[in-house]
Amino acid sequence: MTEKIKSLWAEIESAVAVNEEELEALRIRLVGKKGIIPALFEEFKSASTEEKRETGKLLNDLKNKAQEKLQQLKDSMGQSVSGKASDLDLTLPADELSLGSRHPINIVRNRIIEIFARQGFTVSYGPEVEDDWHNFTALNFPEEHPARDMQDTFFIEKKPDIALRTHTSSVQIRVMENEKPPLKTLAPGRVFRNEAVSARAHCIFHQIEGLYVDKNVSLADLKQTLLYFSREMFGKNTEIRLRPSFFPFTEPSAEMDISCMICGGKGCNICKYSGWVEILGCGMVDPSVLENCGIDSKTYSGYAFGMGVERIAMLQYQIKDIRLLFENDIRFLKQFSSAI
Ligand code: PHE
Repeated sequence: MTEKIKSLWAEIESAVAVNEEELEALRIRLVGKKGIIPALFEEFKSASTEEKRETGKLLNDLKNKAQEKLQQLKDSMGQSVSGKASDLDLTLPADELSLGSRHPINIVRNRIIEIFARQGFTVSYGPEVEDDWHNFTALNFPEEHPARDMQDTFFIEKKPDIALRTHTSSVQIRVMENEKPPLKTLAPGRVFRNEAVSARAHCIFHQIEGLYVDKNVSLADLKQTLLYFSREMFGKNTEIRLRPSFFPFTEPSAEMDISCMICGGKGCNICKYSGWVEILGCGMVDPSVLENCGIDSKTYSGYAFGMGVERIAMLQYQIKDIRLLFENDIRFLKQFSSAI
C-alpha cells in the first residue's frame, strides 16, 4: 500500500488540466466515489494493524494533497482564460510617458517671431537650395565682388550657380518679387556656410531676417522696432547701439549691440568686459535691391535686419558651445522648457 500511495503522490504532483473537463475527470479519478483515493481508504479498513500504523498518516496526507492540487488547478484556470493572462495586472499604474521638450532653437525662434508679430510682421518661407540670383545677385553682390567672399558657400552646381542659401535674405527677394508693398515680413530658416565647425561657429545655423518696405520707411523706424524687440526679448532696461557696418544690400548698414544682459553693462566675460554684445546686422534696403525686385525705389523705401538664432539662444541660456545645439543629446535638450 505504501508503494501505491507514493506513486500516486508523484502522479498528483505533476498532474495538469488544461480545461474544466480535464479537471473534472481528474477529480473523479482521484477523489470521486469510485476514485482511487476512496478505494485506498477501503483497502485501509481491512489492512493489518501494523500496515494501518504505517499508512494511516500517509493516506490522509495523500487525500489532502489531492484536494489541494485540484483547488490549485481550478484557481489557475480562472485566470488563464486568455492564455497568458496570469501575467497581466490591470490595476498596475501605466508606464510613465516622457513628454519631449522643445528644442532651445525653436523656443527662441518662436519667441522672436512672436515679438515681431506684435509689430505687424508676417512670416515667409523660401527654399534652402537657392539660385545665384536670389542668394547673391539680386542682393547686390556683383560677380567677382569681394563681398561674396564674406560668405563661404556650399555650391551644388556651378554655372548657373545653385547653392545652399547662405542667409534668408534670399526669401526677402522672393517676397519683394512676388508681392506689392507695403511688405512687413520675417524670414526664419536654416542657412549654410562652408565654415570650420568650432565652439562658436557651425556650418548650419538658423536665421531670422526681417523686411519692411513701405512709403517713408526710415532709419528711425528701424531703430524703434529693434529697441522694442530688444527690450521684450532681453529685459526692459536693455539699451541698444548701432555701429556702422557694411552689407552689399543695405545702405547705410549697421551692426546692433545690446547692453549685456548678464552684467547690465558693467562688464563681464560674456560681453568681454565691453558692456555690449552684438546680436544682429541691419540697414536700409539699398534702392537698387528694391529695383531688382520691381519695386519703385523713388516711391518706396525699406529696412532689413538679420540675426542668428543660435547666437541669441547661446546668450540667453549661456550655452558655451554651439555644437551642443546640434548634437540632440537628450540630457542637454531636456533642460529647456518652453516657458520663455
Ligand atoms: N544677411 C545678413 C547676414 O546674413 C544679415 C542682414 C540682413 C544684414 C539684413 C542687414 C540686413 O549676415
